[in-house]
Amino acid sequence: TEVGDFLALDLGGTNFRVMLVKVGEDEKGKWKVETKHQMYCIPGDTMTGTAEMLFDYIAQCISDFLDKHNMKEKKLPLGFTFSFPVRHEDIDKGILLNWTKGFKASGAEGNNVVGLLRDAIRRRGDFEMDVVAMVNDTVATMISCYYEDRSCEVGMIVGTGCNACYMEEIRNVDLVEGEEGRMCVNTEWGAFGDSGELEEFRLEYDRMVDEMSLNPGQQLFEKIISGKYMGELVRLVLLKLVNENLLFNGEASGILKTRGSFETRFISQIERTDSDSGDLKQTYNILTTLGLLPSKLDCEIVRLVSESVSTRAALVCAAGLAGVINRMRENRSQESLKITVGVDGSVYKLHPLFKHKFHAMVQELTPRCNITFIQSEEGSGRGAALVSAVARKMASMLCH
Ligand code: BGC
Repeated sequence: TEVGDFLALDLGGTNFRVMLVKVGEDEKGKWKVETKHQMYCIPGDTMTGTAEMLFDYIAQCISDFLDKHNMKEKKLPLGFTFSFPVRHEDIDKGILLNWTKGFKASGAEGNNVVGLLRDAIRRRGDFEMDVVAMVNDTVATMISCYYEDRSCEVGMIVGTGCNACYMEEIRNVDLVEGEEGRMCVNTEWGAFGDSGELEEFRLEYDRMVDEMSLNPGQQLFEKIISGKYMGELVRLVLLKLVNENLLFNGEASGILKTRGSFETRFISQIERTDSDSGDLKQTYNILTTLGLLPSKLDCEIVRLVSESVSTRAALVCAAGLAGVINRMRENRSQESLKITVGVDGSVYKLHPLFKHKFHAMVQELTPRCNITFIQSEEGSGRGAALVSAVARKMASMLCH
């Protein structure tokens, strides 16, 4: 029932976003959430510099946003969606365990991220904020979808990174006392495989992607699925085919030999053209921008490689979600489980076939479960604002 303006920050993908979320009732007394947002690109050297540089940049973006909306004077409550593994010690306290997804700012791991944000705001001194809550993007997504559908008890992201959260029975959560009720657990399933569980499935390309990354040996499940790595996997398969003289007359271009040159969005573009129509124009165009002069057969091979990599990602990700949902059904000793999953992320939303293959496989692996998928809109920001609204309400109730 909390009404008002909240500021929401979303850090964890390629861009950093600042949002103003208005929570309240419309003319008909219906509850609504409205957002204004602005995206800021994080320069590469800020992602991998020092924590102070990164959080100063974040504070600078907030300052810019407040200027634009004439809100510098207000001390707004702030919800922070921070999408990395943390040890949550309180609603507004989380210790960063390790960076993922190409972030590597030094001096942040092992520290309270909300503290780093508060320090940066204090250093600037040109505005004040009341940092109320910090959440993971999966949790924010689940909460924002729950707002519309009360069966939403799972949140999943397939974007730059990949992860899911779900409602676990408190009796199974060792860290908290109590037997009754449920609690949201962020699985951090992207790190599945880091103790060797995926060895029999990982290919030479997976190993190369991992070795070249900023976090070798970590996030091995995520490295098979998410947008940060999928394009690079395709590039490595293509290079292997070139080396075996099966593609581009055995010659790769300088660009194709460059790390990161095959972007994940190319995969979506290549697969968007109807594979039955035989129209390979998109594929052809993309390959020419990479400095290649492909034949029709080359284009067909490249499309097949893209399809293989993205299909594998969809099916492996489906196995993860099916595992979570089957566990929930067993937990509840229910014959059948009806559940809604809130989803966000560029791979899920923008790839033309990913979600269909993913849904079909989840369904196959979860007999006796009736699953509805809903896509969250602005889930990260709205979810963080809603959690902050509830946290504030609870804090004020405790005070009185
Ligand atoms: C992070 C998760 C996050 C996911 C999706 C992973 O790299 O560890 O915390 O939820 O990416 O953004």
